[in-house]
Amino acid sequence: MRVAIFIGSPRLNGNTVTIANSLVNKLSQKGIECRQFSLYKHKIEPCIDCRECKTDAMECTKKDGMTVLYQNMEWADVLVFGTPIYWFGPSAQTKLLIDRFRPYFANKKLYGKRAALLLPAGSGAEDCDMTIEQFKRVFKALGMDFIHALALQAYDEDDALKHPELDYFVDDLASRICEEELSE
Ligand SMILES: Cc1cc2nc3c(=O)[nH]c(=O)nc-3n(C[C@H](O)[C@H](O)[C@H](O)COP(=O)(O)O)c2cc1C
Repeated sequence: MRVAIFIGSPRLNGNTVTIANSLVNKLSQKGIECRQFSLYKHKIEPCIDCRECKTDAMECTKKDGMTVLYQNMEWADVLVFGTPIYWFGPSAQTKLLIDRFRPYFANKKLYGKRAALLLPAGSGAEDCDMTIEQFKRVFKALGMDFIHALALQAYDEDDALKHPELDYFVDDLASRICEEELSE
């Protein structure tokens, strides 16, 4: 199984990264190959609704930092999106990525893949509901199966690291990712 994690936090040592690193450690111990990407290190142009991706090769005509992200979304069996909650939604860089999913609505290349979420939020799970709902609908539109959302109360940069339930939540998500592989 191959897992690609896309991190939409500008903090390179922040809570999203902490959760993602912990998940990578856990999955690697189980022999699962993981790749991790920081969206803020990639220049992602906004979707301009040119609709070119609806025709011919059904690919985005923009050649930017998304190219490698597209390749890795297609490489992975499980896609994990980690974003801090900003105003009850995903970070702006994450929303740029979501809008660039547009070709996959046409070419269905993500169809049948599975997806999970990593969501640190200052207020915890109560502020994650709209983001979870948005991603669930996106996954459904793309024919992807939603596994689980790991929502964690964390505000300061090292809060996730100190969170008493981080290991428990990560173990739980890692098991869900693996269990579904066994049941296939
Ligand atoms: C612009 C902005 C908006 C935020 N809005 C929310 C919010 O609506 N609800 C919430 O619980 N936390 C909110 N937060 C707090 C972050 O979700 C929290 O600090 C998170 O742990 C940051 O994750 P990171 O360290 O991976 O960047 C906001 C933070 C910023 C910078």
